Amino acid sequence: MDEAIGRYPPEHKRSAALPLLHFWQEHFGFISDEGVKWIAAKLDLQPINILELVTFYPMFRQQSAGKTHVRVCRTLSCAMAGSYRLMENLREAIGVEPKIDNHGTHNPISVSPDGNCSIEFVECLASCGTAPVCMIGETLHENVDPNSVVDLISNPQSAIRNPQSAHPLEHRLVFKNIGRAGWKIDIDTYIDNGGYEQLKKAVTMSRVDILNELKTSGLRGRGGAGFPCGVKWSFIKPDEKKPIYLICNADESEPGTFKDRYIIHEDPHQLLEGILISCLALNARTAYIYIRGEFPEGAKILERAIEEARKHNFLGKNALGSGFDVEVYIHRGAGAYICGEETGLIESLEGKRAYPRIKPPYFPAVLGLYMCPTIVNNVETLCHVKHIIAMGGAKYAQLGRPNNTGTRIVCVSGDVERPGYFEIEVGAVTMGQLIYEMAGGLKPGRMLKAVIPGGSSAKVLRADERFKIKDRQSDGSIIEREISIDEIPMDFDSLTAAGSMAGSGGVIVLDDSRDMVWTLNNINEFYAHESCGQCTPCREGALWMKKITERMLRGGGVVEDPRTLKMIGDNIAGRTICAFGEACAWPTQSFVEKFPDEFASRAAKPVPPPLPPEYISEELTERETIPTTALAHDPGWEKAGSAGTI
Ligand SMILES: Cc1cc2nc3c(=O)[nH]c(=O)nc-3n(C[C@H](O)[C@H](O)[C@H](O)COP(=O)(O)O)c2cc1C
Ligand code: SF4
Ligand code: FES
Repeated sequence: MDEAIGRYPPEHKRSAALPLLHFWQEHFGFISDEGVKWIAAKLDLQPINILELVTFYPMFRQQSAGKTHVRVCRTLSCAMAGSYRLMENLREAIGVEPKIDNHGTHNPISVSPDGNCSIEFVECLASCGTAPVCMIGETLHENVDPNSVVDLISNPQSAIRNPQSAHPLEHRLVFKNIGRAGWKIDIDTYIDNGGYEQLKKAVTMSRVDILNELKTSGLRGRGGAGFPCGVKWSFIKPDEKKPIYLICNADESEPGTFKDRYIIHEDPHQLLEGILISCLALNARTAYIYIRGEFPEGAKILERAIEEARKHNFLGKNALGSGFDVEVYIHRGAGAYICGEETGLIESLEGKRAYPRIKPPYFPAVLGLYMCPTIVNNVETLCHVKHIIAMGGAKYAQLGRPNNTGTRIVCVSGDVERPGYFEIEVGAVTMGQLIYEMAGGLKPGRMLKAVIPGGSSAKVLRADERFKIKDRQSDGSIIEREISIDEIPMDFDSLTAAGSMAGSGGVIVLDDSRDMVWTLNNINEFYAHESCGQCTPCREGALWMKKITERMLRGGGVVEDPRTLKMIGDNIAGRTICAFGEACAWPTQSFVEKFPDEFASRAAKPVPPPLPPEYISEELTERETIPTTALAHDPGWEKAGSAGTI
């Protein structure tokens, strides 16, 4: 416990709240009142400061689970692959009655009568390419057969699939070692293959030189917003007096995204080397890797990697004799998608509920962790830093396309023959190549219906849409052309121009067997469950949209429903503290707009008396847009987007 507290500055020991709660739960099985009081006393806090964490973070329990606890993913790719059937079969196998649940599918944990087994639905476990998945205890099981649950419980060995080898259309930098014969994740193998050479090189470079390489490379963040990494880093003042922090965002929880997990599991030293080079460049003496709670194995792998690197003096005091002291710590989350949003993540790291902060003024680079300048970068982004130092920024920038440089990992899940992750030169592969060549195409006899191209928050694209794309020529002139979905280059700007986004690189493919109301309802359940609850439009709107799509599915839809759904979405986007507002509104807005017939056919009934609550207020049905203040509209870099020109 004291070692965990020692990972944070003494005046910020509240940060140890989540680690202590994990210790308590691992030891006693759940968080009792006694545990709440004990941890509060240890951290000089009030019991309410701890209780509010237990009630916010889904991984903490106030009651015992069974001896074997099974978490089944219920999010889109897993639901499409049969996770609801899996849950039903599990329930029957362990003798648990289905619960009547007025709040959607997130039943509290159900424990079998003999206490041997318990089950719980959870949100995306970042393994969508091997759907359906579940965790038994701390172990992930992939490609689970929903009809063989008894075998699963009686023989719960890990079923993690072998890493994928490279497809000919791939250009692997970050995934270079993954799936390679003879590759092991220990530091000796890493060093034998040229590992930590770039850190040694970076130690001889000035901070300005490293930053310049990064700026020249044009690297854009791979966590979702696509913000230029060099620009973000240059917000740190060279003469900064406060401590500077680097946070590696390993919360990977955007449905459809499963790349960071593989980097951590298969090449942890690559990430560590990227973090250490970044610390040097930023003059950050402390880095935290915020890893989602559902990656217990990943956290252990990284802890081991840190200890190995310390023994080689790559980190710690006077790293590599450079005079630079640097420490890297692992900090585990405890569920909650919103911990991936950088300011929510920072609050969580400070030992609080993950309530995002408003930007401005709380841009992390200015007022971040402990109100100090902080750079938050995604796992994959930080890995690219190492390759930029190896190749030089200019050479790296030759990969991909202008403003969309380098490589990126794209994850494909859903209705394709070979779901998986593919590292491509940004924009060098089209959506059609990705789906039909790399991911093996659709199931026999099926046609493409739609694609969600950048994680479930991205606006859906219809298979038969035509998109107007602007191409920037080498002489600076712009040519506009019309293309089909198959022709969209997989890069940031093209997907923005197509009316969606590249986001976190999670491509979810939907074939013509999919019911779009069912699909949207699954997505809406995710957002309704994951809203942190601070902003009224998001908290109420996300739940309201879910209630409507659920009602439509059950046959209770009324003619007004599609219009109401759209109106709710329109009144969330742009009116919230963080970009979760857009993330939850965009699916509804785009599904309803692009599949009007399907939504209309589920909403054919007249509005019956008594009216559902949303039709009572005249103000809401008649005024489509509620005005907002300028402050609420300030996008910050999360919502910055791009000009839509490639
Ligand atoms: C609702 C929400 C969830 C997010 N989840 C993640 C996440 O799981 N992982 C991640 O790296 N970034 C996530 N982001 C983006 C981060 O806020 C942040 O932009 C990113 O970590 C910055 O790193 P990058 O510049 O390297 O992309 C999320 C953003 C929002 C609004
Ligand atoms: S937009 Fe939603 S998730 Fe973001 S702060 Fe507001 S309520 Fe929380
Ligand atoms: S792991 Fe189940 S949807 Fe992502």
